[in-house]
Amino acid sequence: MNNGTSLLCLALAGLFLAACGKAGETKEVVAAGGTPNSDGGRVSPEPLPTFSDAQWVVLRSLSPATLPPVPADVSNSFAEDEVAARLGQTLFFDNGFSGKLLDADNDGGPNTLGSRGDSGKVSCAGCHVAASGFSDTRSTFQQISLGTGWTRRRTPSLLDVGQAKIVMWGGRYSTLWSQPFGPLENPLEMNSSRLFVAERVASLYGQAYEKIFGAGSLGDLATSSRFPTLTSDTTGCKLTTDIARPRAMAPDAIYECHGVPGDHAEYDGLATADQTLVNRIAVNFGKALAAYERKLTCGQSRFDAWVNGSTESLSASEQRGAMLFIEKGECASCHSGPYFSDQKFHNVGFNVEPTKEGIFNGNDVGASVDLAQAIADPIGIVGPYSDGDDGRLPKSVDRSFEGAFRTPTLRCVSARPSFMHSGTVSGLESVVGFFSTGGNSSGNNGTNEIKALELIPSEIVDLTAFLKALDGSGPAPDLLGPPS
Ligand code: HEC
Ligand code: HEC
Repeated sequence: MNNGTSLLCLALAGLFLAACGKAGETKEVVAAGGTPNSDGGRVSPEPLPTFSDAQWVVLRSLSPATLPPVPADVSNSFAEDEVAARLGQTLFFDNGFSGKLLDADNDGGPNTLGSRGDSGKVSCAGCHVAASGFSDTRSTFQQISLGTGWTRRRTPSLLDVGQAKIVMWGGRYSTLWSQPFGPLENPLEMNSSRLFVAERVASLYGQAYEKIFGAGSLGDLATSSRFPTLTSDTTGCKLTTDIARPRAMAPDAIYECHGVPGDHAEYDGLATADQTLVNRIAVNFGKALAAYERKLTCGQSRFDAWVNGSTESLSASEQRGAMLFIEKGECASCHSGPYFSDQKFHNVGFNVEPTKEGIFNGNDVGASVDLAQAIADPIGIVGPYSDGDDGRLPKSVDRSFEGAFRTPTLRCVSARPSFMHSGTVSGLESVVGFFSTGGNSSGNNGTNEIKALELIPSEIVDLTAFLKALDGSGPAPDLLGPPS
């Protein structure tokens, strides 16, 4: 706007402020024109923070001129393989790997994937909804997810997941490719089994599979009738724990199928060589999925444009939020680097409340259990199915991991339907408010790395506005469904 208009705006501020810009220019108007004083009429310019050289160094660490690409993964020789990524993309959207829907809340309604007893309804994309930044906006209540049962934690977004080496909220899996064993064999998620997965890959994707992983790599699974049970009705983990209400956290129900084939009688009965073959096929299924997931990114945001020279890209409020993020809030001490995560585990003193669905996961101690399981996992970064080990796993976990969860990336954070590992915080303002009060010192393990920030209400508004400026355009449209 020209100077004449600015003066007029100043004079009329308070009455007509929003009307001074053309549509879409409100941001500049607020930044340049100021806000009304409380004593009426007169206007003070809206304060813009001035960043010191040292602060610019921090800002540039969060937003380098170009965002770094996905780091190499020595544990997956197929991580950069385009053909594997294409197969992975197909598998990600294929419902057919799942077993029966178990929970009675599966009533066939729009928030469910089918009716109780149905098989073949849950794909990875059933919870990681592609159009919603690969988080779950489908399940009722927008907190935890309804697959074959209700998950115990919120479905995280998969945008920029390739930046993480150890994955899951608590670090349960040491590689992206071993992670699928979790949902596949979990009776609360896909309720399937690795044997069923291997059989289905062999019978439906055999050609593509052998093209990537080598001729003959399906062994006699490709041809034999040894496993004539290719129907998802006959597979799936048997539940030893009742998952009907009330649903207190029952780790046994969650982990009974992980790594231990205790409930997979058919797999159990196989000779060791056959078990190895089945594991190898399920692992390669995961390596193809990982090659695809590594392509999912949030992308450049308005914050990046601003740091890299486009001074108009952030409003005054968002700039003040950036200052709070790196200074008073100390947020960047954990949410550091271009992806706003140190990829480490921290206890922020978050006390879980029951979900709206009625699941209380209050004794979820996070990394102390999950990381220990990752360390003990025969299928992971250390072990016969890994293509290399970069030393990403700690040797052991101690009490300091109790109540700790992995720092989530904050790029594209505003699109998430709810927040924290439990999904029990709705709205970004509430998350900022949580950090402002300094968490709950009686939280998990009685410890808490967060100190009270005592942000005033306008600071909560600014910091929230800043977080919303981290949205990007998301992955290319051709990654949002099965390959054409
Ligand atoms: C029923 C819902 C559901 C289904 C189906 C599902 N997931 Fe997830 N996913 C989750 C939940 C919940 C978590 C977090 C669990 C935890 O941390 O304990 C998660 C975590 C992940 C993570 C870790 C992300 C991170 O930031 O650490 C990846 C990767 C992932 N899922 C990929 C997949 C793939 C691949 C499939 C299909 C084989 C799949 N998921 C199927 C709900 C689901
Ligand atoms: C000590 C490390 C640490 C600090 C400091 C920190 N965070 Fe976090 N942040 C985390 C961890 C860990 C989680 C996940 C906790 C959980 O789910 O229980 C998290 C979660 C979040 C989430 C929710 C993301 C999601 O997907 O659910 C937001 C938003 C967030 N932090 C913003 C901030 C802001 C803003 C600040 C500064 C006021 C801040 N954080 C300070 C470690 C930290």
